[in-house]
Amino acid sequence: MEQYVIKGGNPLVGEVEIGGAKNAALAILAAAIMTDETVIIENMPDVRDTNVMIQAMESIGVLVERTDRHTVKINARNIHGHVIEDDYIKKIRASYYLIGALLGKYKNAEVALPGGCNIGSRPIDQHLKGFRALGAKVSIAHGLIIAEAEELKGSHIYLDVVSVGATINVMLASVMAPGTTIIENSAKEPHVVDVANFLNSMGANIKGAGTDVIRVKGVPSLRGTEYAIIPDQIEAGTFMFAAAATKGDVTVKNVIPKHLESISAKLMEIGCEIEESDDAVRVVAAKPLGHTHVKTLPYPGFPTDMQPQIAVTLGLSAGTSIVTESIFENRFKYVDELTRMGANIKVESNTAIIDGVPRYTGASITAPDLRAGAALVLAGLAAEGITTVDDIRYIERGYEDFDAKLRLLGAQIERITSERELQKFKLKVG
Ligand code: EPZ
Repeated sequence: MEQYVIKGGNPLVGEVEIGGAKNAALAILAAAIMTDETVIIENMPDVRDTNVMIQAMESIGVLVERTDRHTVKINARNIHGHVIEDDYIKKIRASYYLIGALLGKYKNAEVALPGGCNIGSRPIDQHLKGFRALGAKVSIAHGLIIAEAEELKGSHIYLDVVSVGATINVMLASVMAPGTTIIENSAKEPHVVDVANFLNSMGANIKGAGTDVIRVKGVPSLRGTEYAIIPDQIEAGTFMFAAAATKGDVTVKNVIPKHLESISAKLMEIGCEIEESDDAVRVVAAKPLGHTHVKTLPYPGFPTDMQPQIAVTLGLSAGTSIVTESIFENRFKYVDELTRMGANIKVESNTAIIDGVPRYTGASITAPDLRAGAALVLAGLAAEGITTVDDIRYIERGYEDFDAKLRLLGAQIERITSERELQKFKLKVG
């Protein structure tokens, strides 16, 4: 029984350091196996998903050394196979990057079909279409995706949907393919740009990352590098909404404010004050919050990974708000849990109609997935009384020391593993 137990009602106040971007880290780890030379990656978040990825890489002979908590040294010279099917890897989404990386370097990959958060059907047809366009034969058998090629060749690929995963995977597979690959309708998320910058620092020739069209000129080989991962946009955004939901005053530090613009804009719209400096953003929620409409969109739009956090906040804001989820079809599973805390939310297909209530009340709730789990923690922090959050393993996939960082901001939250610890917490908080 791993749970968070929370005594809500305190405004969060103070400063919080944001770690490296999980979704950039996962792709960068995979990319690091594309050279025989040593790669050093800094600002690596120590979260379950990145650790599972590292284990999978080790299972095929990649040497990974953690020189400190956030720095890894990787050498893939002695890879002894291209089949990755351990049980853990099936649970994470980003295992698919190992297909692009192994195919790009060794022309052969067999990787278990990806899992990840249950937020929709999550097809990978665009990834496979990209690999095929580069000349690979791709099939699915015995739960594995098998991709192989005699040789890969640069190609022109139009993605039918804007996909972070497909954009990065095609970059990985094409980076050493002779000729030029053009990826049209590519995703523009900060982590797509980060992966391109990382590959370029290894000697790749990728232009246009961060725009709709990425051009990759194949290079014969990649070399070792030393690289620091960008800050996590979603971790930062989660703490920004924690400030808003608890009527607090929080400065997120070590961030790139540009990456947070869509989040800051919505917070301002509902009545928060935002102060930006070079690498920090302060959110002050001194006034009563108001309602808004928001629709999730690919970057630079409002991120789907922030949808539950804004909904939790709008649930406590005066008036009727509308949240439309346009990326994943099953991302409102937390609404039932939030209703148990007193929220007034009606979901109609991909839209949540939220009538703000003055307060939530503590309840026993369950995290349905990573971001929704974090959002429910925010609800607990804002609620009157005690909330317990089950299934926090989802939250731990993507947030490092979430409870400790929140405690530094004045939250009363503990990670507990037994009924005894729960009783102890209750006695402590009174
Ligand atoms: C990445 O998932 C992230 N995961 C997700 O973060 C994030 O929510 C998502 O991008 C959108 O920003 C990782 O980076 C590991 P997509 P991904 O391909 O790559 C459709 C988190 O909480 N699509 O950009 O799987 C798809 O169904 C996680 O950290 C196809 O139709 O997302 C979706 O509607 C959750 N065919 C849309 O595209 C494909 O081949 C965008 O998905 C691929 C995607």
